[in-house]
Amino acid sequence: MRESSLPDLGVGLIGTGFMGRAHALAFHNARTTFELPFNLKLAALADADAARAEQCARSWGFERSHADWEQLINDPAVNLVAITTPNHLHFPMAMAAIEAGKAVYCEKPLAVSLEQAREMQRAAKASGVVTRVGYNYQHNPMIGLAKQMIESGELGQIVSFQGEFSEDFMGDPQSPWSWRCEQAHAGGALADLGSHLLAMARYLLGDVEAVCADSQTVHGQRPATRGSQEQRAIAIDDQTYALLRFANGARGTFGSSWLKHGYKNHLSFEISGTKGTLSFDQERLNELRLYRAGEPGRDGFQRILAGPTQPGYAAFCPAPGHQLGYNELKTLEVLALIQALAGTGNEGPDFAEALEIERLATAIRVAAKEMRWVKVADI
Ligand SMILES: NC(=O)c1ccc[n+]([C@@H]2O[C@H](COP(=O)([O-])OP(=O)(O)OC[C@H]3O[C@@H](n4cnc5c(N)ncnc54)[C@H](O)[C@@H]3O)[C@@H](O)[C@H]2O)c1
Repeated sequence: MRESSLPDLGVGLIGTGFMGRAHALAFHNARTTFELPFNLKLAALADADAARAEQCARSWGFERSHADWEQLINDPAVNLVAITTPNHLHFPMAMAAIEAGKAVYCEKPLAVSLEQAREMQRAAKASGVVTRVGYNYQHNPMIGLAKQMIESGELGQIVSFQGEFSEDFMGDPQSPWSWRCEQAHAGGALADLGSHLLAMARYLLGDVEAVCADSQTVHGQRPATRGSQEQRAIAIDDQTYALLRFANGARGTFGSSWLKHGYKNHLSFEISGTKGTLSFDQERLNELRLYRAGEPGRDGFQRILAGPTQPGYAAFCPAPGHQLGYNELKTLEVLALIQALAGTGNEGPDFAEALEIERLATAIRVAAKEMRWVKVADI
């Protein structure tokens, strides 16, 4: 085994579900893909299910497992705490990690209430630890290109944003209850999917000044577990729609539904300016569609493909058209986190930005509940 002269960075990962595996993969891939300024060590893995924590630690290459997340945070080999647990656990875990002076890589949404999000941001700011939140879709090199095109004025003055994040994993009323169905644990389609779209809208177009919205619980009860006769009452939103008024003057629409049959990861937007329209759909994440106005005889959208002219793509593949996937976006998110830790970059939403996303989501909830326009600054 060769000794590394780089400083160690010990990762402690909490959770072994969908996102736990995605984070583990991303840390592995980051070591293989990039010249990192740290000797990245998979120091410890924790899960409420101790046997699973131990088994995953072994097969995912972590040095040890903990049955208790507090032990992981206090493990001296852990410098960075990655939190991939249900939303209501982000607050106690992140606050404990900050208290211990450790960097925090937290899954989205930041918290289950604006008050918690504010406290998390205050604590992170006071301690000065690096924080990042898992709004992975903006790490797509094609989204970087879209941002460049908007900021360089290629689309002219931006006039409108039509955004939607729909999936259909709760479309069947027999899809069972999970922690995602509890207001206190998660907060419904707006928190689960919509928060990603709000992060994207802010990333590309900046602040939203005001919103009005409507929200609905379509299926008021669901089986407690798959196939069970026991029903649980559901009060969170299955779908939420909003009108957005951006600070830059653009007008927009927002939609999030986890009931929309046929859609699997439809984080999509159309951004229109005085010179053209740009369109994106995460289900085709290696493409942008661009329409340039004023080219008579050339009407129609141009399809722009991801390729190695974009550094985030070139890191994985030297040939165009070979396509990146979801897990590569997560790897690019880990790169942004590591660059922030090394002081060589400032990409990716931190707790301060994630708090603004929570403020916007809260404004949408208030607008839907009170059936009125709400100024985001009043929240
Ligand atoms: N960024 C994305 O694209 C994306 C996608 C899916 C989920 N998420 C977010 O990731 C988080 C987790 O979602 P998921 O789909 O992986 O959930 P999941 O249910 O698949 O996994 C949750 C994990 O947390 C563990 N856990 C629960 N309570 C715990 C405790 N007290 N101590 C230690 N471990 C505990 C569970 O055992 C499980 O391993 C959520 O915040 C969700 O919003 C983000």
